Amino acid sequence: MRAAAVLSDHVKEAIECWKARFPEGRERSVIVSALHAVQHENGGHLPAEQMHAVAEYLNLPAIQVYEIATFYSMFQTQPVGRHNVAICTNISCMLRGADAIVEHVESRLGIEVGESTADGRIYLKREEECLAACCGAPMVMVDHKYHENLTTEQVDEILDGLD
Ligand code: FES
Repeated sequence: MRAAAVLSDHVKEAIECWKARFPEGRERSVIVSALHAVQHENGGHLPAEQMHAVAEYLNLPAIQVYEIATFYSMFQTQPVGRHNVAICTNISCMLRGADAIVEHVESRLGIEVGESTADGRIYLKREEECLAACCGAPMVMVDHKYHENLTTEQVDEILDGLD
């Protein structure tokens, strides 16, 4: 595989930009940013061919890219729905009704946590472990945006507003 041919110009630019910020020999520090750029260009997930290309481009073993791609919850190694929906179910949110919201959303979308809708619209990502918005519990993160003090009706409005 020729990494230069697999990665887009935009991804290569992003990699070069981040590489310049670290001392030589610290290319491993660029992996997270490189994977962000790749995932952004690939509908929210990391195709295996591109993960290999990132490793090759940075002259690193592929396992180092895979370690990062599978460790951080913001990276998806399989195709998922366009919109990321993550409901917090940690203690504050749980005490304020998060479990009922999860149940409601699963029932409304016809999927379980960890699955995507058949139309590719929504990825019900996971039950989050506190997103540091406890004073707004219960809360949900949709495409990195926080929605707080939720009722099931408000959750429906949010979900209906996703294209
Ligand atoms: S417990 Fe849900 S944001 Fe902290």
